[in-house]
Amino acid sequence: MLKTIIHGQRYCVFGNPIEHSKSPEIHAAFAAQTGQDLEYTRELVELDAFPATAKAFFANGGSGANVTVPFKQEACEVATLLTERAQHAGAVNTLAMLEDGNILGDNTDGVGLVTDITQRLGWQIKGKKILILGAGGAVRGVLLPMLKEEPVEVAIANRTRSKAEELATQFCQYGKVSGYSYNNLPAEPYDIIINGTSSGFAGELPPVHFGCFSVETAVYDMMYGSEPTEFMGFAQDMGVTKLSDGLGMLVSQAAESFGLWRGVMPETAPIISQLSKLLEEEA
Ligand code: ATR
Repeated sequence: MLKTIIHGQRYCVFGNPIEHSKSPEIHAAFAAQTGQDLEYTRELVELDAFPATAKAFFANGGSGANVTVPFKQEACEVATLLTERAQHAGAVNTLAMLEDGNILGDNTDGVGLVTDITQRLGWQIKGKKILILGAGGAVRGVLLPMLKEEPVEVAIANRTRSKAEELATQFCQYGKVSGYSYNNLPAEPYDIIINGTSSGFAGELPPVHFGCFSVETAVYDMMYGSEPTEFMGFAQDMGVTKLSDGLGMLVSQAAESFGLWRGVMPETAPIISQLSKLLEEEA
């Protein structure tokens, strides 16, 4: 844990759009739980204004920020120091002001996913066969922390096969990782299947072969909503009983940011339940 963070009080999330972001509610709940005094706001940023806006925020006393779509790549340029996982992700979701004047860029998405899977859900990654669907920014962001858990194999399947192969090449020094199209992916059961595609936004399903599922397979969808996702419903139809959406990942990545900024790790379970209720009320 870095000890050089200035413990100021101003935090925010930058994005466009931003109204839907649950980060202010999550961080307010963490602050209440851990007795920390801070303010955390939503900041809508014009598409061409992110670097200037983020730099001004820190120049004017901001202590930390989350960064969401579409600014995670640009945030790498705002940071003056990058963690190893942010470098590999090519994306930053957490910025933190350091005492020496540097702005640290980190990516807590992958560790959030791994923590949710291994600690909250109790699914083992070490020694297991993992299938990840999708090869966009969301998947790139989680590969290093996933591979550090030492799965026996990570298969990445993507509609555009070349993107899956490129990711596999980029990360192969960290473990056995291969890229496939949905057609040439071996149709054999995996221990954990993670949906990292954005197909759900279009009401579509990634075309993964039913042979990849068994009754023992655990399925995690990085998407979340007030109801189980379409991909979870599809997995259930395949006989899968171990299922989760990505709400826990959202809260866990936020907890990692909070821990970096404030030096104290909040407990995620009660916040996940609170957020789940909030989503139901809003539906
Ligand atoms: P994100 O930041 O959410 O990862 P992205 O970088 O645009 O967004 O990546 C979206 C991912 O979802 C890609 O892997 C995309 O596949 P392609 O690379 O072939 O475009 C995948 N995806 C989107 N819609 C999909 C669909 N209907 N079926 C399967 N995969 C889909």
